[in-house]
Order: sequence, then C-alpha cells, then structure tokens
Amino acid sequence: MIRTKVLGLGSYVPDRIVKNEEIAFLNDQHVRQDTKQTETDDEWIQRRTGIAERRYVQNDGSVATSDLALQAAKRALADANLEAKDIDCIILGTLSPDIHFPGTAVFLQHKLGISQAGCACFDIRQQCSGFVYGLQMADAFIKTGMYKRILLVGAELHSHSLDFTTRGRDVMVLFGDGAGAMILGPMETDDPKAGVMYTSAHADGSGAMSLYLKIFQIANLPYVDYDARNRDENQTMYPQMDGKRVFLNAVRGMVMSTQAALEKTGLTWDDIQWFVPHQANLRINEKVAEVAKIPEAKILNSIQFYGNTTAATVPLTIDHWRQQGKVKRGDRILSSVFGSGFTWGATIFTL
Ligand code: COA
Repeated sequence: MIRTKVLGLGSYVPDRIVKNEEIAFLNDQHVRQDTKQTETDDEWIQRRTGIAERRYVQNDGSVATSDLALQAAKRALADANLEAKDIDCIILGTLSPDIHFPGTAVFLQHKLGISQAGCACFDIRQQCSGFVYGLQMADAFIKTGMYKRILLVGAELHSHSLDFTTRGRDVMVLFGDGAGAMILGPMETDDPKAGVMYTSAHADGSGAMSLYLKIFQIANLPYVDYDARNRDENQTMYPQMDGKRVFLNAVRGMVMSTQAALEKTGLTWDDIQWFVPHQANLRINEKVAEVAKIPEAKILNSIQFYGNTTAATVPLTIDHWRQQGKVKRGDRILSSVFGSGFTWGATIFTL
C-alpha cells in the first residue's frame, strides 16, 4: 500500500523582532516614533493573546511572500536531501499573495529555479487552515500516484497589510511574518499508522464575513474606489474581525476536529507525542486543551515568539521545537487548525 511520508521540514522567519512594547510606537512604515501611534500595551496583548513578539520583513520593497516561502522551501529540501528539481508539485497556502494573480506558487517555482521543468503549482486560499487543507491534497495526490515529490508551503507577509493605529489594534497585534514548508513523498508499507495517517478538512461559509480582508470589491466599478493613503477612506485595505465570534468558533472547530481525529483513528494521547494547534491565540489553545483534555506536556505553541503566521503556523511551530531538540523524527503529531472562512480541520502524521 502506498502511504504519504514526510521527507523534510523547514521554516523561515525574518530577522526583525518586534516586541509588544515597540509595536505601539510604530507608524505605517514600521518606523518607531517618539509618541504612541496605537493605544495598546504589552500587558493587554500578553493577557489576551499570549503573544510577546513577532517578526517583520524589512520594509524596503525587496521581500514578498514568495521570498519567505523560498527560504523555508530550501531548508525543507535540504532536510529531505533533495534538490528543487526533484519537486513535481508545489502547493502553497497564503492569504497574503505576492499579487492578485497569478498565484504565489508560480513565483516560488521560478525563484527555486525550476520553472523550465514545468511542475504543477497550486495556490490554496484556506487562510489559517491552509496547512491541513494542503496536506490533505498532497496526501491524496501521493496515494493516487499523481505526484511523487510535493513541496507544501505556508507563507505569510502580514506586516504590510496591518493598520498601525488604534482603529486596527485588535487585528494588528496578532499577526507576524513567516513561512513553513514540508516535502512529501510516497512509501510502500502495510502499516496503517505510518506516515500521514489522517486528515480532515471542513468549512462553514456563513462565517466568511467574521474575518476578512477585502482590498477590492469586484462587484463594483471601479473595483477599487478609495485613496489608499487617506486614513478616512482606506479601512478596506485592512483585515476586519469579529474577534469574539472567531474565538468561540475556533475553540469549537479545533476541539471537534481533534476529538474526531482520535475517534476515527482509534488512537489515544498515549499514541501521540505532540499536539500542535494553529497559533492564533494562546487563550484559544488553552481552552481547546482544557475541553479536549489534552495532556499539557504534549502541547507545542510558538505564538509567543512569532504571533499568528496563518498558513505557516503548524510547520513553523514543529520546526521551532525540533530546533530546540524537543520534537524528533519519528514523533507522531496531531494538529488541528481553524481560520477565516470559517475553515478548520485536523491531521495526524509521523514526522
Ligand atoms: N490593545 C488594547 N486594547 C485593545 C486591543 C489592543 N490591541 N484590541 C482591542 N482592544 C480593546 C477593545 O477596543 C475593547 O475596548 P472597549 O472595551 O473600550 O470597547 C477591549 O479591548 C475588549 O475588546 P474585545 O474585542 O471585547 O476583546 P476580546 O476579549 O474579544 O479580545 C481578541 C480580543 C482579538 C484578543 C480576541 O477576540 C481574539 O483573540 N479573537 C480571536 C482572534 C483570532 O484568533 N483570529 C485569527 C483566527 S485564525
């Protein structure tokens, strides 16, 4: 039987660390000012979200989402002992694409130097659930023999589309830039627990406008009708969120998908080394752990250091803790995610 194996893992975050204390003083060019630009503080952010700092790209126009993806992809390829030319499919999850179209996966393919080979490139738009949705796709492709070396990447450049004023503080403090990547391939085995054991993906479109970023409205003509530099007009450029509704649905979606993953596979927490939830808010993850009765010692978070990096959070968190020596090859991981859409899902796989 062909099953999907994780061949490599890598992640990348930009060097610039923005601590909670600094974020209140940043202007829209990310330059620290003498006076507060946003009414927020470290105490509020830590208490409500658990976030202490996040990473931002340098603000000189030289870095796009595909560049973050490229760095993570190179590290995952090195980890798999493979070269870019070995990849026959790219699946890239992002809510911050380089441009509106074409998708970011083709920019990544070109930057990897493999555009001549012409491998398949998919962009997926499942926001914070992008990693689990992408893993489900990759798993199906590999099991059917469609592709043999899939690069799955979650990459986000959030810092350029955040509102650095009190108006946007509920969302602005949450997000950071970063990328995580995985290389997946087939293995022949009779072990039903080997490799990617389980994936589930769900959505509820009635929640679509509880967390969204419009930028434009294609129904209108012209479809962009505001001055991006006019603060009285430009709210359409920034993410909007009904935080409480997102919080409640995130807890419910992640608890349900975690419990379903265990029920459908017949595993218990004794069979699983690590629980890696999406990193949206530490308080969400604490509530999920409490309701789903997840052993505390098995929970991995990284939101303290990186904020919410959306499609990148799961591979980034696993790689972060692997670099710290905690996570090891052969560990079995249960991951559950929730994001804008609403979308959610879970996976169980062996690293
Ligand atoms: N700093 C200081 N005060 C802030 C703030 C910030 N960054 N953001 C919001 N506030 C204020 C609000 O304006 C409000 O003030 P008011 O009482 O004077 O009106 C107060 O804090 C409480 O706001 P509220 O929105 O009720 O807080 P909350 O307890 O719901 O926490 C979130 C806000 C964003 C932390 C929380 O709703 C959340 O985490 N939601 C889920 C977000 C998420 O996970 N998104 C990604 C999903 S993939």
